[in-house]
Amino acid sequence: MNAKRVKFENISKVFVTDKNRQVKAVNNINLDIQPGEFVCLLGPSGCGKTTTLRMLAGFEVPTDGHIFIGDENIERLTPDKRDTAMVFQNYALFPHMNVFDNIAYGLKLQKLPKEEVEARVEKILHLMKMEEFAERVPSQMSGGQQQRVSLARALVMEPGVLLFDEPLSNLDAKLRLHMRDEIRKLQQEVGITSIYVTHDQSEAMGLSDKVVIMKDGVIEQVGSPTEIYQKPANSFVANFIGRANILEAVIKEVGEDGYTIDVHGVPYSVEKSKEYQLGDKVEIVVRPEAIEVSEEGNFTAKVGKSMFMGAHHEYEVNFFGKPLEISLNNPKNKSMVAVDESLRFSLDAASIHIL
Ligand SMILES: Nc1ncnc2c1ncn2[C@@H]1O[C@H](COP(=O)(O)OP(=O)(O)O)[C@@H](O)[C@H]1O
Ligand SMILES: [Mg+2]
Repeated sequence: MNAKRVKFENISKVFVTDKNRQVKAVNNINLDIQPGEFVCLLGPSGCGKTTTLRMLAGFEVPTDGHIFIGDENIERLTPDKRDTAMVFQNYALFPHMNVFDNIAYGLKLQKLPKEEVEARVEKILHLMKMEEFAERVPSQMSGGQQQRVSLARALVMEPGVLLFDEPLSNLDAKLRLHMRDEIRKLQQEVGITSIYVTHDQSEAMGLSDKVVIMKDGVIEQVGSPTEIYQKPANSFVANFIGRANILEAVIKEVGEDGYTIDVHGVPYSVEKSKEYQLGDKVEIVVRPEAIEVSEEGNFTAKVGKSMFMGAHHEYEVNFFGKPLEISLNNPKNKSMVAVDESLRFSLDAASIHIL
């Protein structure tokens, strides 16, 4: 495969609605995607993910900015000239064609010799272990199988960039997990640059080399799943990815590459993220699993909720008047603390991230 680099430079898209209202769907985004990377655009519904993808595919024209695939500036090219292929949420297969013909369709349009078309379709059917489906029409297949055909139809074009718009949303939860693993495996096998739109954080975390968090047409953060989780850029990202406690703290000491912060009277040494001055009030993120329940803990708080979840135990305690979530892993041999009793705990200093 000829994996391509993708670059968005100051891309904006303004829609004008029937009532002459302007909607800024995408607001000045910059993004640099390396060849072979798997990148997810993740964010709540309406944040501009689909519009971004459609501008890359050529179905929408940017209001401003430039898009490059490889070294080529592509804003003026029609979709068929862009070296992209898209997998849609609703599969978009031709209902009257069998699987083989559905997959062959794009190649036939390119007027390739019959032998080459057949060889390429067979190769993809083999890669996706779908040889036995070649003669079926879409109505004779499950949603998951149809989505695999739709993926095969995109892959057979050997595009430089593969695009996905919420491809698993119509499948049930179990099949979604299975297909997610299959997409990732296949992508790694063929090494194709992939851009995948989803509003499902676990999908994005499980698939991506890089996650792009969007909100209201703006990119909030770009990073690996670990970076996004451990070092969220702001409280929106912290709350959107996983669960987060956001606490107040004060900078007590400024060191070379760290701070000492005061969290309700307890000092913690933490890594430097941004520049702060002595005495600054800051917000810190503490994940529920980064709180250590122990008899020697620094804090004591009254338990408001106590739930045994099997693999972990969840508490909500009253922490200086605000709810604090605590998740205790592998709780089987630990004695549980009931509602209205007190729980002792400390924060794990290494997991504290200053916003
Ligand atoms: N053709 C259009 N005309 C007017 N507004 C649109 C059009 N397409 C999308 N929008 C608006 O642009 C914003 C972003 O939409 P979209 O990119 O589909 O978001 P997402 O895929 O993240 O859910 C939304 O407010 C949506 O209503
Ligand atoms: Mg969308």
